[in-house]
Amino acid sequence: MDTKELEEAFAAIFGKEADVTVFSPGRINLIGEHTDYNGGHVFPAAISLGTYGAARRRDDKKLRFFSANFKDLGIIELDLDNLIFDKADDWTNYPKGVIKFLQEAGHTIDKGFELYVRGNIPNGSGLSSSASLELLVGVVAEELFKLKLDRLDLVKIGKQTENDFIGVNSGIMDQFAIGMGADQGAIYLDTNTLEYELVPLNLSDNVIVIMNTNKRRELADSKYNERRAECEKALEELNALLNIKTLGELDEATFDEYDYLIKDGNRIKRAHHAVSENQRTLKAKAALAVGDLEKFGRLVNASHVSLEHDYEVTGIELDTLVHTAWEQEGVLGARMTGAGFGGCAIAIVAKDKVEAFKENVGHVYTETIGYAPDFYIAEIAGGSHVLSRK
Ligand code: GLA
Repeated sequence: MDTKELEEAFAAIFGKEADVTVFSPGRINLIGEHTDYNGGHVFPAAISLGTYGAARRRDDKKLRFFSANFKDLGIIELDLDNLIFDKADDWTNYPKGVIKFLQEAGHTIDKGFELYVRGNIPNGSGLSSSASLELLVGVVAEELFKLKLDRLDLVKIGKQTENDFIGVNSGIMDQFAIGMGADQGAIYLDTNTLEYELVPLNLSDNVIVIMNTNKRRELADSKYNERRAECEKALEELNALLNIKTLGELDEATFDEYDYLIKDGNRIKRAHHAVSENQRTLKAKAALAVGDLEKFGRLVNASHVSLEHDYEVTGIELDTLVHTAWEQEGVLGARMTGAGFGGCAIAIVAKDKVEAFKENVGHVYTETIGYAPDFYIAEIAGGSHVLSRK
């Protein structure tokens, strides 16, 4: 979607010209899954699929929001003086949360605005359409109200919206990748210190294929919070003898020595994943730095195995895609990406094998699951940014 189309779409809905247009990407995660709330490392990248927005400031306190993805909901009208979560307000709860927390952080948003959004991230695909929207609204507000904010503040407000307004106890990975993304680079982030590095994604003759299960991530949020609680409990149990703030501080040898302190088999598996996945992420970054793509691919595969058996967040759809991908010619590695329980997986595939890959994996998946998956080539993109302003 280009800027002109976006401006025209805004004018068609609201009858006026937009003051600003914005793009906010989605993200994939190469490796480092379910580590961000365990003080570990993550390795995501912003992608060119994302959310487009156009907005115009109002003189009163009305917020009028329209999404081309939820046309049936029409214009949802809200009041700047009443920013509370209401299920009936559907997707607009995300913008509401962002505006509320911007205000609470001391930024003046004293007038309402109109907002048109249209996203091309498939719904519920685990490519972070919600963080994409949060950052989009943050950038819109920055522009319309001339706010002075560091990008990291906006990233944290996105996470706060997810945690304290929507009720998903997520970590910072999605908002960080989307807010701080850069063309041609993945983000290697230590979620404990928030130190990060932009790493060129040099995949030689390979591309990243995103495989969408087309299974919506139902129940994902409650399961997600459950996993997080299991890890917190395991940490507490380990601290009967250890003195650590996060599971990310442990290497596997130390974990193996102390795991008897955890009083439940499932919790041992969850914590083992958090520890081993963090170590794999360090190794994967090092492998990529020296161009050892085969090793990088094997670590990606091992990540899936751990998410399947230790963390138990995959399910038949993701497993079918990933296991089938492993068997194809020209595949360096494949794993689920994001929270799991449906959503998307990624595979690193030789460019000249992509067509055969899609056909074979698509065929097996459709036979096994009963409906078809979708495939997209991931293009690494920059973080949320302004497209045009009046
Ligand atoms: C979701 C959350 C992230 C992260 C991933 C799993 O995308 O929003 O914070 O925990 O799941 O790695």
